[in-house]
Amino acid sequence: MNNELLAQIEKKYKELYGGKPLLIRAPGRINLIGEHTDYNDGFVLPCAVSPAIYFAAEKRGDTKVCLNSYDYGSYCEFDVKQKDRPREQWASYLYGITQIIQEKGYKISGFNCVFGGDVPVGAGMSSSAALESGLCLAISELFSLNLDKMEMAKIGQKSEHEYVGVKCGIMDQFASIFGKDGNCVRLDCRSLDYEYSKLDLKDCIFVLTDTKVKHSLASSEYNTRREECATGVKALQKKYPGIKALRDATVEQLQSVIGEISDTVYNRCKYVIEEDNRVIEACNALNNNDLTRFGQLLYLSHNGLSKLYEVSCKELDFLVDQTKKMDYILGSRMMGGGFGGCTLSLIKADKLEEYKATILPLYVEKFQHECKFYAATAENGTAVI
Ligand code: GLA
Repeated sequence: MNNELLAQIEKKYKELYGGKPLLIRAPGRINLIGEHTDYNDGFVLPCAVSPAIYFAAEKRGDTKVCLNSYDYGSYCEFDVKQKDRPREQWASYLYGITQIIQEKGYKISGFNCVFGGDVPVGAGMSSSAALESGLCLAISELFSLNLDKMEMAKIGQKSEHEYVGVKCGIMDQFASIFGKDGNCVRLDCRSLDYEYSKLDLKDCIFVLTDTKVKHSLASSEYNTRREECATGVKALQKKYPGIKALRDATVEQLQSVIGEISDTVYNRCKYVIEEDNRVIEACNALNNNDLTRFGQLLYLSHNGLSKLYEVSCKELDFLVDQTKKMDYILGSRMMGGGFGGCTLSLIKADKLEEYKATILPLYVEKFQHECKFYAATAENGTAVI
């Protein structure tokens, strides 16, 4: 919890509107393994993290929604019934949440809101999901809607689909809402059953290394990957009608339709099928305290993301390659949608400073700008403070 930031948000709110606002913390997320599996009905293994977005909000007496982004120093207002989207890019997610909640039949009216956070934007920690989850809970609380957690995750995802144009899976919103202190959570993205496991990393920690790049391909390529997976499923279904999603397929089945699909589609599907299996294996490795195997699975995941799914980039590949020379790193991979953002590495805790001191000059020499480091721990999900 960033108490200082929370105090600033609350202070800003009181300066603008007075009153006694509701306060909410909505965290970003990391994903240990299971990338691009969520929209293929597969498995993911995320945690909520300590960087978060903080909200101060209170009902108004009218139907106006007044949103203040503390970080951008920007303001946006709209009527709850307004059909035109606000022009501000950052407000589209939030406008979307207010619309979707109403489409579901819930009655809301106007409110004031100030929000700001320390989730780095573009680093792949899902600041957008934090924004969606936090606002959803704020509205639920202000208007006593009693939205259940999974419903809120789905509202956030829908807002991303319809108001941002990224056909994302459910992982980010789920993780931001369901995160639990000290635990990772395995989600079955088909049944939406989930299971918490205590994260016991012994003498290791997770470190994020932020490439500080976000290639503009990210959202268009994301949607293309989804379509490629769907193409693969169609070809598989002709021969195996029981297959509903890549989650149901095996690599052998995929090989048997090799003549029906392009090399690209084959590679995309192979990656997803293998990654799903890796999530299961990674959970077993964690339960058996086998961090060595868990680390190897991170490297295998990266290899697939880079070579078969082709969502990595030279900065991410460079960082992962460098860690292979460091015996105090057990595994590393790119995290999230790809084309920039962070790598996630499992590292001996007492070697963190050595790692940073080694990587930073190498990275600067190669790319002429710095990378950034964050230690990642598992924290609680979106909640009223
Ligand atoms: C983005 C999406 C998620 C998920 C990841 C990749 O973060 O929002 O739904 O697909 O990419 O695993």
